[in-house]
Amino acid sequence: MSLQTLGYIGLRTKNLEDWSAYASRFLGMQLVDKSRGTATFRMDDRKQRLVVHESDADAPGFFGWEVADAAALDAYAANLERHKVAFARGTRALAEERKVRDLIVLHDPAGNRLEVVHGAETTTDPFKPGRSISGFRTGPLGMGHAVLQCEKIDDVLSFYQDILGFKLSDYFTKPFAAYFFHINPRHHSVAFIETGKVGIHHLMVETCFLDDVGQGYDLALKNPEMIATTFGRHCNDQVHSFYSWSPSKFMFEYGWGGRTLDVENWKPEVVTGGPSLWGHERYWLTEEQRNEAREMRIRNAENGFRIPLNVMEGNYKQARDVCPWWNATAPARKTG
Ligand SMILES: [Fe+2]
Repeated sequence: MSLQTLGYIGLRTKNLEDWSAYASRFLGMQLVDKSRGTATFRMDDRKQRLVVHESDADAPGFFGWEVADAAALDAYAANLERHKVAFARGTRALAEERKVRDLIVLHDPAGNRLEVVHGAETTTDPFKPGRSISGFRTGPLGMGHAVLQCEKIDDVLSFYQDILGFKLSDYFTKPFAAYFFHINPRHHSVAFIETGKVGIHHLMVETCFLDDVGQGYDLALKNPEMIATTFGRHCNDQVHSFYSWSPSKFMFEYGWGGRTLDVENWKPEVVTGGPSLWGHERYWLTEEQRNEAREMRIRNAENGFRIPLNVMEGNYKQARDVCPWWNATAPARKTG
C-alpha cells in the first residue's frame, strides 16, 4: 500500500506563456499540449509530468503520488480511513485529465492537495526535450522532488511519516530547519522547510548529464536575476545544482548526480555539514542566514569534506590514473 514515486505535479499560474517557455526552453521539458488554459509537459515516456493551469493567482495545484495498482490504492484509502483522514475518490473525468487509471484526493495539514494514483499512462512516442538535454532521471525514482514550506515542522511531521508512510532520510536545523523524506531510493521525494509560511519552496528535476545543468546555468546567466541559488553541491542528497526563480516566484532546482539510498537499511540521521558542501549561495536567505551557511561551507572545506560522484552507466568514463593523495589524506578527512 505504500507510495512508490512522485508521479506528477500541477501548478496554477497567472503566467502560462512564461511557464511554457521556462519549462520547455529552459528546463528542457517537452510541451505536449497548450489548450484551454492548460499547458502539459513530458519528461520521459509518461504522457505528462508537469501540468500548469492558467489562474488568477500563482499557487500550488496538486502533487501526484503513485502506488502500484488498484489493490494498493484501496489499501491506501483504507489506511486513511483508519486514521480518520478525509479523502475523496477521483471522478472518471479527473482520472482522464490526470492520465491515470484511478486516484483519491486528500489534503495535508498545510493545505497541499495530494493525489494518490495508480496506472499512469505512457506513450511510445519518443521524448523530445524542449532544449537539447540528455534527458531526465525519473523511472523508479519519480519525477524529482518537491520541497514545501510549513509554519512549523511539527504540523506536518507525524502526518507525512505515520499516516502517509514517508520515511525520514535526514534533517538539519541550521541555518534553517529542513526535514527530508524518501519513498524510494531517491534521497528525498518531499521535504519540508520551516519558514513560517506555506506553499512550494522549490521543485527539483534531475538530468542524466552534469553538462545539462552547466548549460542551463549558462542560459540562466543571460538573466542573472533569475538565479536564486548559485551552482553548488548538497551534503545530504549530494546533488550538484543551481536554483532559478520560476515564473510563479518559487524556485526550481536543476540538478545532477543525486545519491540513491539503501532504503531497507537506511537510518535517519542529522546532517552536520549544513545544506551544502560548497557553493549554493542562497540569495533568498537573510544576510545573517547566508553568512551562517557560508561559514558552514568554509568549515566543510577546511575539514576536507569530499564525496565521490554518483554516476550512472553511460554518463561517465573512468580515467586511467588514480588520485595519489586520496588514501593518504583519509585519516585527516572529516565528513562535515
Ligand atoms: Fe532540493
